[in-house]
Amino acid sequence: MSETATEISIFERIGGAVTLDRLVEAFYGHMDKLPEAKKIRDMHDFDLGPVKVVLKRYLSEWTGGPKLYSPEKGHPRLRQRHMRFPIGNADRDAWLTCMRKALAETVADPAARAELDANMTKLADWMRNQADNPHDRGEARPT
Ligand code: HEM
Repeated sequence: MSETATEISIFERIGGAVTLDRLVEAFYGHMDKLPEAKKIRDMHDFDLGPVKVVLKRYLSEWTGGPKLYSPEKGHPRLRQRHMRFPIGNADRDAWLTCMRKALAETVADPAARAELDANMTKLADWMRNQADNPHDRGEARPT
């Protein structure tokens, strides 16, 4: 997400690390329970603890807060990190269903929520790696 000197980061607008903690807990809580998310839940380890920590760190950096991901992990290269999981349209939709529910529960500011939703939708779309996806034909990539 871009940010100029005069702009307040999304991280600050939503309430910082406390809100991101709640968001990620709610997100994986939905993934754990929703029947439509079972397939993507099963791609993850039984213990969601470690990936929760990583997603919180990633989102901190991605929303313009403290850079907690790349000093430890290097460039996110998220799409590459997801290549070992086959992600198609239904998987993207299941991921977004969990995330949208979590956003609705934890991000109070409607404008910030809409912005996060739009950017996460782009990212989830980009994460698809099945052969028939248009971005595999060389479209511009989001960050
Ligand atoms: C579109 C559907 C998606 C699926 C099915 C999916 C699935 C997964 C799975 C299975 C893992 C590995 C978890 C583990 O090690 O137990 C993972 C890791 C991760 N995912 Fe996703 N993901 C999706 C989209 C996204 C999106 C949109 C984001 C960012 C907002 C994201 C951020 C991450 C991060 C930060 C990690 C940890 C990567 C690392 O180890 O550094 N994922 N994802």
